[in-house]
Amino acid sequence: PLPEPFQVPLQIPRVLSPQRTADADRHTITQREATAEIIPGIQTPIWSYDGTFPGPTIESRRGRTTIVHHRNELPVPTVVHLHGGHTPAAEDGYPTDLVLPVSGWDVHHAMHDARAQITQGSRDYVFPMRQRAATLWYHDHRMDFTGPAVYRGLAGFHLIRDDEEEALGLPEGDRELPLMIADRAFDEHGAFAYPSVDPTLRTTPGVEDAYVEGVFGDVILVNGAPWPVHEVSATRYRLRILNGSNARRYDLALEPGGQFIQIGSDQGLLDAPRNHDHLPIAPAERYDVIVDFGQYPIGTHVTLVNRLGTRPTAQVMRFVVARRGRDDSRIPAKLSEIEPLIRQQASAIREFSFRTGHIHGRAGWVIGGEPFSPDRMEAQPRLGDVEIWRFVADVHHPVHLHLVGFRVLSRGSRPPGPFDAGIKDTVDLRPGEAVEVIARFDGYRGRYVFHCHNAEHEDMAMMANFEVI
Ligand code: C2O
Ligand code: CU
Repeated sequence: PLPEPFQVPLQIPRVLSPQRTADADRHTITQREATAEIIPGIQTPIWSYDGTFPGPTIESRRGRTTIVHHRNELPVPTVVHLHGGHTPAAEDGYPTDLVLPVSGWDVHHAMHDARAQITQGSRDYVFPMRQRAATLWYHDHRMDFTGPAVYRGLAGFHLIRDDEEEALGLPEGDRELPLMIADRAFDEHGAFAYPSVDPTLRTTPGVEDAYVEGVFGDVILVNGAPWPVHEVSATRYRLRILNGSNARRYDLALEPGGQFIQIGSDQGLLDAPRNHDHLPIAPAERYDVIVDFGQYPIGTHVTLVNRLGTRPTAQVMRFVVARRGRDDSRIPAKLSEIEPLIRQQASAIREFSFRTGHIHGRAGWVIGGEPFSPDRMEAQPRLGDVEIWRFVADVHHPVHLHLVGFRVLSRGSRPPGPFDAGIKDTVDLRPGEAVEVIARFDGYRGRYVFHCHNAEHEDMAMMANFEVI
């Protein structure tokens, strides 16, 4: 039986404390099977980073190298990608850069890719962190198997902090809440129900035909708890909202009414706050928002609802305004400086279609008519160049570029919409729509991917390469 909404307390994932050396912060994470009590009284088997879902939160300082040592005690290879990271190619979690299980693996099962960096058992991922403060997340990225691996629990927050942001006086401490929203379906034993063709995730990728559009669940989890409840004081809170779902899009709103004051996007602070009475969010997108619970009388139940859902997916979580509180936080009218990028700076314009297609005779999803292959380069931007990429969609596709943050330049031949502000790394294409983004390809040379972040579309070949040269 599904749990009653708003009974289970919200959990905040544990923040890892680093081992500090002169030039880096070091963390160790073990990927392993575990169980989690998601539905009260029931143990759900998970694949975990360090035993929990979500995994532990990593915090980095801008400009200070963070090294994460990952040890793979799971039964299959894994790949870790820091989503939103401005990361050297060798550390970026390219889908064939496998970390093989410590228990061993027949490498003949690995996809043939001459450039793949395969390691045995464990490896360091080294992140220079030369990027602004932002809400990033890390998750599995193994070729063809990302959807089921993330669904089993391989996802966690990675926050970057910097002096600029800390000087603003935004709500902090227990008034700063990372919220990973993800839907899941459960079977009758309380295990996650994911329709893999091969539930061992060893050799055959893909989902049953009925799920080619994406895998949806009827239970909405926030930080791994079903429709949780959280007591707040009547003050401002900073919510770092991540849609960690495989395929589900949400349109979030507050009941009984109220505003989200958006201060940040995927890649950190906006130039100035923007007010919204709802927030459409596609898989992998983030919003950094302030909600002022001081606008409600003490005792008010403020429900975060999903306007795209029907019961039970129309509700997400609840805040209970439990007490008065002193609030010395601020929301400055100017938050940050964002380098403008204009059309005239672009040295190339490229176009990519995101559509249904065929992969090995089965239904799938393709970019530019071609299924993903590690060998085919779709674009070779020169280091430092600004380019405009134009994406055209058949149905909804949340498009994500590794390495770079971008600005939305146009949407459906109109200027960017109210939710496109700031620096993004994932943009939701709506059915039939063309979206232009502009980015500077700086920092690192090498091979990276861009792909649809509907995880089932991604696994069914909606991915392509670019190489910064
Ligand atoms: Cu969040 Cu290529 O991924
Ligand atoms: Cu897609």
